Order: sequence, then structure tokens, then C-alpha cells
Amino acid sequence: MTEARKALEKIELELLLEAIFRRYGYDFRHYAQASLKRRVAQSMRQAGVSRVADLIPPILHDKVFFDDFLKFMSVTVTDMFRDPDFFAALRTEVIPVLKTYPFIKIWHAGCATGEEVYSLAVLLKEEGLYERTQIYATDYNNHSLAVAREGIYSLKQMQQYSENYIRAGGRRSFSDYYHAKYGAAKMHESLKDNVTFANHNLATDGVFGEMQVVICRNVLIYFDQQLQDRVLTLLHDSLSPRGFLCLGNKESLKFSAVQHYFEDQVYPQRIFKRVPSRGTHLDR
Ligand SMILES: C[S@@+](CC[C@H](N)C(=O)[O-])C[C@H]1O[C@@H](n2cnc3c(N)ncnc32)[C@H](O)[C@@H]1O
Repeated sequence: MTEARKALEKIELELLLEAIFRRYGYDFRHYAQASLKRRVAQSMRQAGVSRVADLIPPILHDKVFFDDFLKFMSVTVTDMFRDPDFFAALRTEVIPVLKTYPFIKIWHAGCATGEEVYSLAVLLKEEGLYERTQIYATDYNNHSLAVAREGIYSLKQMQQYSENYIRAGGRRSFSDYYHAKYGAAKMHESLKDNVTFANHNLATDGVFGEMQVVICRNVLIYFDQQLQDRVLTLLHDSLSPRGFLCLGNKESLKFSAVQHYFEDQVYPQRIFKRVPSRGTHLDR
């Protein structure tokens, strides 16, 4: 692609993102460029158009088209007990602290189709903590949230999920937690008793109050530094003093606006503890 064409495409992309923000309030203006461009290109192929600008009219005037476009914008890849070492560390390094609390609130931000939420519910049940925990599971993608609420997954994946569960320190058989029927696995209803699934956009929405744990894994990687700082500040401000923040294994607090307000709890698994005495970045 020539430099002139690249410059034009940059303008078109900025106009597209501005149009989406002003028309629908979804703010993709600070998403990381490489993956954003890939997603827009996919949507262009689907729509059969050759220029980014050609997406603007249907997006502005056709809500169904925009709804489809949103599906392209979300990377919803997830797993049960994704990164089993993370869940193992949660069990051994965080759960013992949570056991000293009378009531626990956990915010699972960017929960996609819910696999991690059910994994967390299983872990909390096995540790005798589920009954006194409230989990808020949020994502900005309503399609993913609908799947999460249903809690029905492909049976084919359960073998892999069972292995993850064992590696994460699971104490029973993973099949104890779902019913298998017609090639699908339906997670037990009781795992949802203390879960509230809700729409929340990390780019535009506000703080959740006084959580003991915030889990936001494999979401920041899609954001640029400015949006990462906004979101990390939001996550920090949603935590109670000494609350735990869990990020994905390619994500870090280094060079972020809140790096001095956390200490490492289990660094390889990206579990951080909010430092109580230093307040929020706004106190500086
Ligand atoms: C790759 S998935 C990660 C899912 C899960 N946390 C995991 O690690 O397996 C990224 C999720 O972030 C969500 N996401 C992206 N931008 C978001 C935003 N601005 N607000 C809330 N969720 C967002 C996507 O919809 C998607 O469900």
C-alpha cells in the first residue's frame, strides 16, 4: 500500500470510529491499531466493500448492520480455567485471604461468554466461599453475555476443560458441574446463584464499588496505552484497600498510571494487591 493510501485509510478509520462513538456511544477510538484494523477488514470483507469509508453509511443508518459489526469488533476467545496456573495461584494465594472476610464481592470485567466465571464459581464452591460471594460478570458485548447467562458449551471442549480444571487444583471430577445432553454441556444452575451478568463498557462506563477481587484478563491487550490507563484506574478505584487485581499473562502494570498503587502478589500469574495507604492516583 502506498504512503498516500495509508494516510487516507487512517483518516477513514478515524472518521468511522468517531461516527460509531457519536451515533451509538461505543468508543473504539483508543483500541490498539493492529487488531482494530484486522477486525475492520473482516467486516469490510463481509459487507463486500473495498474502502473503510464505505462502512460509515450502513453503520450510521442501519442498526442491524452495526450490531453485526460489533460482533467483528469483539475477540471473544476464552476457556474454562484458562491458564490453569492462574486459577491454581488464586486458590493458594488469594482464597486463604478471602476466607477471613465475612462477605466477598468480585468483579469479573470482560467476561466474554462466561467460561472463566463458571470456573471461578466452581473454585469458590470447592473452597466453601461461594455462599458468601457475589460475582458481577460484565462485558460490553450483549451476544457474549447472552451465551454466558445460558451457560451451555460444546461437549467436545469438556475434555480439555477437565484437564485445565485438574491442573488448576480441582478436587472432584469436572463432570460433576455440568449436565451433558445432545452434544452440549449445561453448567449447573447453582453455579449462577450468586452471579449477576451485566453490560458494562470499560471504555465509557464507571466504577464498581468496593470489590475484594477484580479479574480483567486478556482485555487490556486490545487497548492503547491511554485507554489501558483509564481502565486500570477504573479497576483500581473499584477495589477495596488490599483488594486483588488479576490481569492476563501478557498484561502488566509497568509504566501504567497506577503501577505505584499495587504490589505483586503472584507476579508470574499477574495477581496484584492494592496498596492500602497510597490512596488513588487522584490523591497525588
Ligand atoms: C479475549 S476476551 C477475554 C475473555 C476472558 N476474560 C478470558 O481471559 O478468557 C476479551 C473480552 O473483552 C471484551 N471487551 C473488549 N472491549 C471491551 C470494553 N470496552 N468493555 C468491556 N469489555 C470489553 C470483549 O467483548 C471480550 O469478551
